[in-house]
Amino acid sequence: MDLSSSTQEIPAAPSVPSHVAIIMDGNGRWATTRYLPRVTGHVKGVEAVRGIVKACMERNIRYLTLFAFSSENWRRPPDEVSMLMRLFVSALEREVSKMNANNIRLKVVGDLSRFDASLQELIATAESRTAMNTALTVTICANYGGRWDLLQAMGKMAQAMPGKTEFAEQDFAPHLAMSYAPEPDLFIRTGGEQRISNFLLWQLAYTELYFTDIFWPDFDAAALDAAIASYQQRERRFGRTSAQLVEVRKAS
Ligand code: IPE
Ligand code: IPE
Ligand code: MG
Repeated sequence: MDLSSSTQEIPAAPSVPSHVAIIMDGNGRWATTRYLPRVTGHVKGVEAVRGIVKACMERNIRYLTLFAFSSENWRRPPDEVSMLMRLFVSALEREVSKMNANNIRLKVVGDLSRFDASLQELIATAESRTAMNTALTVTICANYGGRWDLLQAMGKMAQAMPGKTEFAEQDFAPHLAMSYAPEPDLFIRTGGEQRISNFLLWQLAYTELYFTDIFWPDFDAAALDAAIASYQQRERRFGRTSAQLVEVRKAS
């Protein structure tokens, strides 16, 4: 697996993205447009996750990263936050055995220290149970923030290299929370907003961005295929000109 940096080397541009990162947005609006409580939208959102994990397996996508709860989502009403935590716990309890049976590796990244000890325990167990699986790596970003990630990585790098004041990308990137994964090829945000909302700030440097108005609970395999089709239309130049790409294609 190519873990190189898109700003240091020119990565291969696979026709099927190897890493898809998704901001799963619009659960609340999915529910309120149906006069349902927001929590119903979150419950439906978990079902959509199940469908997309399956679709990624079928399409041979190797890494799926899902933004489930941001470091800013604590600002929501306490009821909604505790509902989301309960949903997270029940989804872990229900899904991990199935994921394991399907050769899926589960990772949870973010500042987990703010979660209940029992949830932290559940996460650690789920990760270690599935650690050896190789078909698909599903990463749940929970209490994750791109700035948190950059800061924690800076702290670790400074500790690993005491006295140093000049750093290279290669010194830094291994300390990021998702250093085990290549940079995302395709970023998807559902729910109509066109912003990054403090997601993977470092890794999205050369990722193709795709925004759709579909609310997350309605995002299915066909919607994923539409995102992949859009991705396949893109010319990933990584700083070069179109003419250079033609030469590269001729040579290969
Ligand atoms: C995304 O849906 C899920 C989380 C952020 C946990 P939202 O809850 O943000 O849905 P909208 O944006 O209010 O519709
Ligand atoms: C982004 O969604 C975070 C997640 C999907 C977990 P939000 O709904 O919280 O984003 P903003 O607040 O609209 O930017
Ligand atoms: Mg939202």
